[in-house]
Amino acid sequence: MLEVKSLHVSYGGVQALTNVSVHVSKGEFVSLIGSNGAGKTTLLNSIMNIVGKQKGTAIFDGKDVTKFGTSQIVTSGMALVPEGRRVFSNMSVLENLEMGGFKRPAAEVKNKLEEIVKMFPVLGERGYQMAGMLSGGEQQMLAIGRALMSNPRILLMDEPSMGLAPLVIKEVYEKLKVLAESGLTILLVEQNASMALKYAQRGYVLENGRIIMQGKASELLGDNEVKRAYLGKEYKEKWER
Ligand SMILES: Nc1ncnc2c1ncn2[C@@H]1O[C@H](COP(=O)(O)OP(=O)(O)O)[C@@H](O)[C@H]1O
Ligand SMILES: [Mg+2]
Repeated sequence: MLEVKSLHVSYGGVQALTNVSVHVSKGEFVSLIGSNGAGKTTLLNSIMNIVGKQKGTAIFDGKDVTKFGTSQIVTSGMALVPEGRRVFSNMSVLENLEMGGFKRPAAEVKNKLEEIVKMFPVLGERGYQMAGMLSGGEQQMLAIGRALMSNPRILLMDEPSMGLAPLVIKEVYEKLKVLAESGLTILLVEQNASMALKYAQRGYVLENGRIIMQGKASELLGDNEVKRAYLGKEYKEKWER
């Protein structure tokens, strides 16, 4: 469904991604893990053409979208939930959702809104509040809901657990699981390797802008090198208590 081939991205003279190839099949939940600065956000932003590609291609559903503009990419069926959520704080929750349905026919926006509020009841309950008043977890749900408003076939998720408490992180992942089970394809990037790999079928490890490992998520979770580098102390402290 999505195939990113030999992607190179640099900021000025600084190489952020080197020869990165990632593929996601229809219906898959794929997680890419890597520490801070590894290039995860750059990868997603470059797929969406928010950040330009220096070299490499992106094929989505058989279509070469390498040079598409961001809104064209959204129209073709990809949506990004950005790092840090980026909700519009001084707009209401419903207005935030409507922004995600921008360019869609009104009837479709209405149906989608109903669907999303059913899935995230809190967004309905808080519909008229300013998005900035929501908790971090609620803002994450809103960011996901906003992305879903464009009716994507693939959802790109950037660091959903950032800044959230473990229980809230679990709630967010459980929603992603429901979405995946309903047929949505997901490509997620995270520092939080244990959660990202627990919920995914397949995974990649990105280090200094290069893919250094890939495989079944369960195998990566059990891999000693992954354990040492990404699940070590944090894993014991946060997730095994
Ligand atoms: N706008 C930018 N300008 C210059 N360098 C950047 C910019 N964004 C990211 N970088 C650099 O690119 C590398 C990858 O960053 P990023 O993709 O944000 O990593 P991650 O999301 O994995 O933390 C880092 O070295 C970072 O400092
Ligand atoms: Mg990032």
